[in-house]
Amino acid sequence: MKHLLKLLDLSSQEILNILNLGDQLKYELKHGIAHPRLAGKTLGMIFEKASTRTRVSFETGMYQLGGHALFLSSKESQIGRGEPVQDTARVLSRYLNGIMIRTFAQEEVEKLAANASIPIINGLTDFAHPCQVLADLMTVREHKGRLEGLKMCFIGDGNNMANSLIVGGLKVGMQVSVASPQGYEPDAEVLAFAEKHSGFALVHNPLEAAKDADVVITDVWASMGQEEEAAKRCKAFDGYQVNQELMAVAKPDAMVQHCLPAHRGEEITAEVFEAHADEIFEEAENRLHAQKAVMVLLMG
Ligand code: CP
Ligand code: NVA
Repeated sequence: MKHLLKLLDLSSQEILNILNLGDQLKYELKHGIAHPRLAGKTLGMIFEKASTRTRVSFETGMYQLGGHALFLSSKESQIGRGEPVQDTARVLSRYLNGIMIRTFAQEEVEKLAANASIPIINGLTDFAHPCQVLADLMTVREHKGRLEGLKMCFIGDGNNMANSLIVGGLKVGMQVSVASPQGYEPDAEVLAFAEKHSGFALVHNPLEAAKDADVVITDVWASMGQEEEAAKRCKAFDGYQVNQELMAVAKPDAMVQHCLPAHRGEEITAEVFEAHADEIFEEAENRLHAQKAVMVLLMG
């Protein structure tokens, strides 16, 4: 593994290696065992979109690993003034040991990786959110003791989260069912990958997707960059809410995951959210541990 651009690039074993190291680093942190595996190393963090979790977990994680992280807002760097990504990649490769980037087009991340001589980590694009899904898988495994054979369902927009959950879930042997409204299905490249797996189903009926699920996952209906479509999307996603009625068809001990931020009353009710808050905030915490594992494996 040279970069983490999207889960489609990783083997099942590479995903499991990240989860295993994530578990170990979490254990070490909780038991006060220092793990300065990236002492003296520096991570650049390029943000072209807002963030709470990604920024804080990467920055804190780098500190805990003995390294340093730099926040690079695109607006306050030459990136926002149009300096070609090929040049940014070659310059930053001479200062840093790794780059985390959050941006719009997946192509920008791929181009950065193609031109950099250091590892690139995708901290969210319109296409994928691999770091989040690694944390989700880590959380599910922690709660359920395994991943293989479990049924995960995703209810809502076929967005970056849906794309990464489908690929990540199928690669670790889960069954994955997705319910999205017509016109809001996951990416075609992801569906082409998924359709080779017998455990995959794409449906329009949320209750069908959630039936007997071990894990129920949702995400916002309007992602960053789609704010203007919010009203139109609210209408299109009517009926795609994770609520008690939907949870009633899932397994009685089903978990709920949400990458956050959540819009209570839209994609999830406050009732379901609060009933599963422990799992959801564990998921947020696991961003830290999973990403530290990614950085150690790529930059160590
Ligand atoms: N889930 C997630 O990526 O959160 P932030 O947008 O706060 O980084
Ligand atoms: N789908 C959401 C995820 C936020 C973490 C977005 O892209 O805005």
